Amino acid sequence: MRLAHHWRVPVVPQGGNTGMSGGATPDGSGRQLVLSTRRLNRIRRIDTANDTAEVEAGVVLQALQEAAQVAQRLFPLSLAAEGSCTLGGNLATNAGGTAVLRYGNARDLTLGLEVVTPSGEVWSGMRGLRKDNTGYDLKQLYIGSEGTLGIITAAALKLFPLPKARRTALMALSGLVAAVALLEHARGELGAGLTAFEVISARCVPLLARHFPALRWPFAQTAPVTVLLELSDYENDAHARNVLDRVLEHALEAGLAVDGVVGESVAHSRALWALRESLSEAQALEGVHVKHDIALPTSAIPAFVAAAEDSVERFAPGARPAWFGHLGDGNLHFNVLAPMASDPDRFVARQSELNRLVHDQVAAFGGSISAEHGLGQLRRDENVRYKHPLELRMMQAVKEALDPLELLNPGKLLPARESQEALHIP
Ligand code: MLT
Ligand code: ZN
Repeated sequence: MRLAHHWRVPVVPQGGNTGMSGGATPDGSGRQLVLSTRRLNRIRRIDTANDTAEVEAGVVLQALQEAAQVAQRLFPLSLAAEGSCTLGGNLATNAGGTAVLRYGNARDLTLGLEVVTPSGEVWSGMRGLRKDNTGYDLKQLYIGSEGTLGIITAAALKLFPLPKARRTALMALSGLVAAVALLEHARGELGAGLTAFEVISARCVPLLARHFPALRWPFAQTAPVTVLLELSDYENDAHARNVLDRVLEHALEAGLAVDGVVGESVAHSRALWALRESLSEAQALEGVHVKHDIALPTSAIPAFVAAAEDSVERFAPGARPAWFGHLGDGNLHFNVLAPMASDPDRFVARQSELNRLVHDQVAAFGGSISAEHGLGQLRRDENVRYKHPLELRMMQAVKEALDPLELLNPGKLLPARESQEALHIP
């Protein structure tokens, strides 16, 4: 980084390269240096006395999950790309995933960071304290900054007790209103034991059958909404099973669910999870689609989906909103597949208009246009439409203070300085 600074070469930090917003992809100029963190791959320490892990940026998320488990601890960040994404990227994008409703996102799991600045100095903020009120919380600036302020090279992260048992259930529901009601009930019944509450819309189910025929959908009928619910239990497996059975019984009796299945074994639970975790790939295999990664108050999601589906149908009759996501924390992947037998190029050409339509609805319901995937290049310009001008100015001031030469990941998250006027950034 010192050399890049000396020669004024823009640097694009890159971890596992699994991001979905182009945040770790260089521009087309051929003049940016891609800096891989993959060789920073040591787990420096698992400290069970303080429930912390010190890891380098290039450690693959799953490797940390496994190391924590060996030490009888849990590192709860969990997402479909965990086998190849790296912790540096997870932190740079403030990754979310499936356990946010219980443990928070990457931001909430971080106690300290080591960061290389644009001029090549190393800031070692790895103290790992749970309390530290000695001024601005600088680590939080870097988390979610998508490599635009500094390069995260290591982190001190929180560990948690390993649950004694985990049980997963899949429930077929009458609709999203029922799903939100079930979420409220499950939160009350399971408290901190509720560690995942994922939702799958009916349009996703045939995609699984088509592209992953080995996966078995457990219900004869496809309900409008299917929910995957996970319970982590600190007593024992029998207790977990009882508690989850009670939630399922309530859902059936109250008319929220029409069917349900509880994972009978670890392998069975994994198979239920595989249905949820294969959705993104199934959509990619299905063909052209436009992704949206939005956050809303969970109570607003049913009305949002009704309104957004309606506008999508009017905009492109036959387009297939095949949404799924993390209902437990209000994050929906409102992805829209091109109409069957349509010209995919024509659909893609209208992508910006479709984004505008969906994101204006998101704004009307008080939501965010980027919940967990970050802005990168994909949402960078759209964000200007929805962020308050003062917020944008404050973000710009931070960028100028920490990266005055604009060497780190230029043109990601915020438009590059030279194009800001064109975008009417105040
Ligand atoms: C997921 O929840 O599966 C991911 O965020 C991927 C996606 O949105 O496609
Ligand atoms: Zn997701």
